[in-house]
Amino acid sequence: MKILLLGSGGREHALAWKIAQSKRVEKLFIAPGNAGTGNVAENIDIRATDFDAIAAFSLKEGIDMVVVGPEDPLVKGIYDYFCERPELRHIAVIGPSAKGAELEGSKEFAKGFMMRHGIPTARYKSITAANLEEGVAFLETLQAPYVLKADGLCAGKGVLILPTLDEAKRELREMLGGMFGAASATVVIEEFLSGIECSVFVLTDGEHYKVLPVAKDYKRIGEGDAGLNTGGMGSVSPVPFADDTFMEKVRTRIIDPTIQGLKAECITYKGFIFLGLINVKGEPMVIEYNVRMGDPETESVMLRIQSDLVELLEGVANGTLDEKTLVEDPRAAGCVILVSGGYPEAYGKGYPISGLDKAAATESILFHAGTALKDGQVVTNGGRVIAVCSYGATKEEALAKSYRTAELVGFDKRYFRRDIGFDL
Ligand code: AMP
Ligand code: GLY
Repeated sequence: MKILLLGSGGREHALAWKIAQSKRVEKLFIAPGNAGTGNVAENIDIRATDFDAIAAFSLKEGIDMVVVGPEDPLVKGIYDYFCERPELRHIAVIGPSAKGAELEGSKEFAKGFMMRHGIPTARYKSITAANLEEGVAFLETLQAPYVLKADGLCAGKGVLILPTLDEAKRELREMLGGMFGAASATVVIEEFLSGIECSVFVLTDGEHYKVLPVAKDYKRIGEGDAGLNTGGMGSVSPVPFADDTFMEKVRTRIIDPTIQGLKAECITYKGFIFLGLINVKGEPMVIEYNVRMGDPETESVMLRIQSDLVELLEGVANGTLDEKTLVEDPRAAGCVILVSGGYPEAYGKGYPISGLDKAAATESILFHAGTALKDGQVVTNGGRVIAVCSYGATKEEALAKSYRTAELVGFDKRYFRRDIGFDL
């Protein structure tokens, strides 16, 4: 089979690494990819949202399956684009329809969906400039801190958590006034939930599903979860509190009604569902849906899938996922992200990266995130640069290996958190 993977981050390198191991794959392309994906796939210089170019390339190369890494192409309707064109219809797209992608593309839609299907989530109210006063009144019924979410996609920046009622009221007005442009013309105000988070990934063909290894990511830049939010500074899998009892609740209260709800609403969904969950005194509640794999969770999760991922994806495409098996690796996985100093605020690019050969000789597995090739040299090309991942009998052992390998990889102003997994 010929597969085209879309995206360019650490998540996509991890997906490419896993897909490339499949006996079912004859050729793997990635568009656009990065300096690392070029080692396991052929990089193609096409943006993940350039549907016309993706379609033309797919026809030219005889692509059988398109696997979508990031949310953008999904929210923009790549699944529908392929379905609506007779010449493309035979190509399987792994990902939801545009309507399904609304679960991530619109917080208001996601909350409404959860209400309609009795899925546990924080109490909320959806507010626009037209009912601002209702929003203010709702805030007054809540306890601090206050959670405000821009309805639309904001590259992970659309959630504000505010310590006082005054700030919440002020920021609500700012958001509705265009703080995130059209994305915050509607704002979801939510009750704050207190607990520890985890990421549950579900692969579905619309009828059946498989639950992938559970992971936890670390979003803040600083140790002890302090400072600004980032795209993710590390991840671990498994997550000790996501035990059989917790996961049974996740299946019956969240996953089953989600799959049934999608069916009941005639929403085509053949792809990954990412449940951002919070454990509130042993009870799982949904913080958010995403319609793709998480980054940097994927870097740990892919290490922990023993089965052939492409066979599972074929099951998704054909509606036979129930006939496939998903075997988890019993070992733990731990991933540490090396970032460029200054990130998530201003940072430089183009710094040469040293030590990749030495790191490759260790037991760790390196996935590239923001890297590029410049005159034959791998250089930094983003805030998050490299994901260093390792196996271990325990997460402590896995992370210790990743930290040792991380020290071998150098670039100007390199930074990484040394406390990934600290709260588990
Ligand atoms: P989201 O973009 O929805 O994932 O929100 C970003 C982060 O804000 C989440 O990962 C949580 O840490 C936090 N968050 C969002 N909603 C809530 C909530 N209702 N209660 C507590 N924390 C929240
Ligand atoms: N790690 C969180 C995300 O991918 O959104």
